[in-house]
Amino acid sequence: MDKVFFRKASKDDVDEVYETILSAFGVDEGSERARHYRSIASDWKNIVVLELEDKIIGVAHIARYVLWYGISEFVKGDVGYVSIRREFQGKGYGTFLMDKVVRYMENDGFHISRLGGLIRFYSRFGYVPFPRRYYVFPLEVVYAGAMKITPPEYLAISHKDEINIRKYDATKDYDHVYRLIESFNRGRIGALKNEKPSKLTASESKSFVYEDNGVITAYLHTYIYDREAVLMGAFDFNHRRTFAVLLKEVLKELYHRGIRNVKGRFPFDRVMEDIFNKNGIYFVKSELFSYPASNMLLIVNLNGFMKSILPELKRRVEEETEGWHGTIECNVGNDKVFFKVDGYDIEILDGDTKISDRITLDPQDFLLMILGYRSFKEVYTTGNVSRKLYSFLDGLFSRQSVATGQLG
Ligand SMILES: CC(C)(COP(=O)(O)OP(=O)(O)OC[C@H]1O[C@@H](n2cnc3c(N)ncnc32)[C@H](O)[C@@H]1OP(=O)(O)O)[C@@H](O)C(=O)NCCC(=O)NCCS
Repeated sequence: MDKVFFRKASKDDVDEVYETILSAFGVDEGSERARHYRSIASDWKNIVVLELEDKIIGVAHIARYVLWYGISEFVKGDVGYVSIRREFQGKGYGTFLMDKVVRYMENDGFHISRLGGLIRFYSRFGYVPFPRRYYVFPLEVVYAGAMKITPPEYLAISHKDEINIRKYDATKDYDHVYRLIESFNRGRIGALKNEKPSKLTASESKSFVYEDNGVITAYLHTYIYDREAVLMGAFDFNHRRTFAVLLKEVLKELYHRGIRNVKGRFPFDRVMEDIFNKNGIYFVKSELFSYPASNMLLIVNLNGFMKSILPELKRRVEEETEGWHGTIECNVGNDKVFFKVDGYDIEILDGDTKISDRITLDPQDFLLMILGYRSFKEVYTTGNVSRKLYSFLDGLFSRQSVATGQLG
């Protein structure tokens, strides 16, 4: 392994990076997949490579995203296209590359990393399985006693609403929709900062808007892959009903096209559920834990992550707890972080310090809690802390409104 060398890619590496990905994944040039790999290779600023005697034999793509966390934010790195040229596979190079990738992210300001892949391989680097969340909209006939109700019947909307729905027009709507997405995402854990309206480059991708008296109040983007559709969207909280109506219209269209598998990448929170329930939208909330391959997360820099989200934690301590006094050592896997709480103030301390309490969570539980998927009470089922600390932590770490898509 002594001759291998890890570095960031440069513009001159694009061809070799492309060949490496093709070789690793066993894809022929000229195919649709190959065209996609070419576009990934061209994104050389987000690529790192492994070189052996001046030849690139390994590649990884690291996409950087800034995500909201209440009034704070954090940086996520999506690792993808991890590739070792076919003839070099199974010799330890992939392991070497991934170790370097993790260290590189740690030194480059990333807090959390996400990827999808074989659990057995990626768990070596500390990645843990993390659920994917989405809503399923079953487009099926509903039987109620002697009655049979078809999707076009239960998804029917009024004529007035129908005329307010139209295709998204990038030249005219971009700024409006950008602002709509921005205010919809603001503050929600895991939502993208600076998310742009989806580009309509793929032929099977469409966006629609609900426009009322010249104002766009809801936006919905549809990706169609084979017989499956994925929906994403945003809306004005003062016009929730218009989003429900837009969703019904799009679901009806998908049904007419023969698509039966529809997933919605919408936030998991009370507002969404309320909209679906109040407007008669048939839905399933799905939280998928898959094996042996899965969506996975890694805390790249625990202390850096906690410092980055500290403003939001301070806000919660003030607004959602009764306060507390003490210093907690929080153990997460092989890592730890120290919180000092002084009444309604909280700070993250560097290095070892005198502590009053200690809690231990495995990385998956910690991630579920810190990202608002579970409350402290739900994950902290072992060990004993005082009642006062227990209720303080449960106030600090409650279930939150969380975006879907970016974290899984
Ligand atoms: C996955 C890959 C990068 C690993 O690199 P490598 O140099 O072969 O790996 P190493 O020799 O360091 O380690 C071998 C491990 O790779 C893992 N591996 C093999 N195929 C894999 C795959 N498709 N995805 C993830 N891990 C894989 C196995 O866990 C194996 O170890 P184990 O048998 O002891 O469990 C490489 O095999 C590759 O390029 N595969 C094709 C492309 C691919 O599937 N990339 C992963 C995208 S998520």
